[in-house]
Amino acid sequence: MNDNIHGGVKWQSPSNIAIVKYWGKSPKGPQIPQNPSVSFTLTKCSTETSIFYEASDRFGLHFRFDGKENPEFQTKIAEFLKQQTSSFPFLNEMDLHINSHNTFPHSSGIASSASSMSALVLCLLDIERELHGEKDMDTKKASCLARLASGSACRSVFPKMALWGTTEAFPGSSNEYAVSLENEIHPIFKSYHDSILIVSDAKKEVSSRAGHALMDTNPYAEVRYAQARQHTATLLEVLKAGDLEAFCHITESEAMQLHALMMCSEPSFILMKPNTLRIINTLYAFRKETDIPVCFTLDAGPNVHILYPDRDAELVERFIMDELERYCVDGTWIADRVGDGPSRC
Ligand code: PMV
Repeated sequence: MNDNIHGGVKWQSPSNIAIVKYWGKSPKGPQIPQNPSVSFTLTKCSTETSIFYEASDRFGLHFRFDGKENPEFQTKIAEFLKQQTSSFPFLNEMDLHINSHNTFPHSSGIASSASSMSALVLCLLDIERELHGEKDMDTKKASCLARLASGSACRSVFPKMALWGTTEAFPGSSNEYAVSLENEIHPIFKSYHDSILIVSDAKKEVSSRAGHALMDTNPYAEVRYAQARQHTATLLEVLKAGDLEAFCHITESEAMQLHALMMCSEPSFILMKPNTLRIINTLYAFRKETDIPVCFTLDAGPNVHILYPDRDAELVERFIMDELERYCVDGTWIADRVGDGPSRC
């Protein structure tokens, strides 16, 4: 490769929160999901990644997270890049200096591989574009490569909402990449807030890799996959119609199923904390009293995502401050909302 080749690229990419959850990998291929999943793309919880590249006689990686070396991430990224040399042949003759940082508070217990891996892939595709003088970013390719880096990352490259996984309910859906739902949803969902209540800032008890693997022997796996397929089909109609009551019902059922699956795995895990349950019960009471269509979802951990439309933001945020903040670590919650997807910086 020409020794003069060098340059820099930078992307900011958000995390996403699943409404229908991806939990279980299919043996049919790398990072192929057992069921379709649907998510909101977030705004505040995002990763900013820059890569400075220069021609070299071999592949070289210098990774820094928040300005410091991070051996755990370095290994994960090196492993992914080595697998991607057929997609990005330039990697064999390039020194990469990667700097990455998350825009959400440190130690919030939200380790987002979706934002970091989608930002990384977008940077790599930009380097490829610069080297080949191409114009447009190929989002399908970006989503596909992000999936290989970290399954749910494939949904982060799209604004507002995305669907990943083949379903008869959505022509053009695929197990290999996500598709945008931006033009398939009622406008109210584009205004959604996600207030993330930090119940614990400890590192995840079970990695998602280990969690997915537990589904291989979970006695309820097939029932779960069928239910997730049904939830996806129904949710797509609900999103179109703007049916907030049905949205709350599916969202909470999905969160509970994810945690129930972990409880009946072998070995079994309880990922909720006492304060997770306190928040859920307080939320139920508030919804009953006010009739506001506010609901919760959970990732594979104890933190609670409170979801509501912008028109109810004032009342719900007052409720969070008055009644839920007390259950959060140092009163921490992140006022995130549905966003426009990644951007070049
Ligand atoms: O993308 P992974 O392998 O980190 O798995 C994500 C799993 C959940 O966050 C629990 C659900 C989802 O669909 O995002």
